[in-house]
Amino acid sequence: MAMVCLSDFEAYAKKYLPKIAWDFFAAGADDCSTRDENILAYKRIRFRPRMLRDVSVMDIRTKLLGTEISFPVGIAPTGFHQLAWPDGEKSTARAAKAMNICYIASTYATCTLEEISAAAPGGLRWFQLYIHRNRVVSQQLVQQAEALGFQGLVLTADLPYTGKRRDDVRNGFRLPPHMKLKNLEGAFEVCKMSLLDPSVTWTDIYWLQSLTRLPIIVKGILTKEDAELAVRHGVQGIIVSNHGGRQLDGGPATIDALAEVVEAVQGRVEVYLDGGIRKGSDVLKALALGAKCVFIGRPALWGLAYKGEEGLQEVLKILQDEFRLSMALAGCANVSEIGPHLVQFSKL
Ligand code: FNR
Repeated sequence: MAMVCLSDFEAYAKKYLPKIAWDFFAAGADDCSTRDENILAYKRIRFRPRMLRDVSVMDIRTKLLGTEISFPVGIAPTGFHQLAWPDGEKSTARAAKAMNICYIASTYATCTLEEISAAAPGGLRWFQLYIHRNRVVSQQLVQQAEALGFQGLVLTADLPYTGKRRDDVRNGFRLPPHMKLKNLEGAFEVCKMSLLDPSVTWTDIYWLQSLTRLPIIVKGILTKEDAELAVRHGVQGIIVSNHGGRQLDGGPATIDALAEVVEAVQGRVEVYLDGGIRKGSDVLKALALGAKCVFIGRPALWGLAYKGEEGLQEVLKILQDEFRLSMALAGCANVSEIGPHLVQFSKL
């Protein structure tokens, strides 16, 4: 089967993954309206492409907090990669390094942070944190990530409790016994997410700053009010995200929330986005609306499910080729030429 676009990997994953794993990856909260809206919203945005602008030499590189990446796409934190491929997060780390992009490793990885680092030494990685009630566990993880060379700390802000994902409830989803949340072993009973700390507030950013010199990126922001609070608390980046529609159902598509956040931030910190990115032209739309980089969640898991590290690289290469082509067809030879003038909202 020729793999031409990201949907081909989705179809493969749906066909070959065990149903319980597929359902877990695909899940949205409640009736999945926000999950689906993340994708539909891109269709309402149309380009205003410019012509005759010499796109013979294309430069699609950009920088993430000062570090160069090969194109403005990274891998969003998702848990349990061994459900997709036996080598789990080690394969993810290798693919990200090979493509010279950023991989955000989840607190809920099924490989240890050491294994992830050793699999792809020198790769650009950030560590995503869920703050647990036992603060010592979180503190140790943050400090371990810094010592291992992770270059950013991503605090996920939208999960005081886990959203209600109906298929996971129906399936009684839990990790198979041979897989472990390797970075939390002993810290709490596997798959009882209830030890997440729902009392976290903005002042905990100061606590994190006291633990680490890593830049802090807050993930899960959807409003100008929270964007302003994030900047005021001294974070270096914001990821506009609704957790792939897995948390509060009924919230906005991330691409629709982006402009409000970008406007509030006024260039004081970098703004990124995840949710619903399935094509190179989606990446271009997000950059036009002010994102510095976007991250993919489920498509990375589909790539892993297809062929591990190789499959994920294929997903990333397709996205990279599509992004380069979309840029050229819109009349941009490098990412600094992308701006709000490139898009219009469809009146349909
Ligand atoms: C996630 N997401 C997530 N986010 C996070 O901060 N920590 C995590 O451990 C996870 N785990 C996770 C598992 C699975 C299976 C999915 C699908 C998502 C959310 C993730 O980082 C990201 O916000 C969304 O996946 C982006 O949407 P798309 O690209 O999947 O549409």
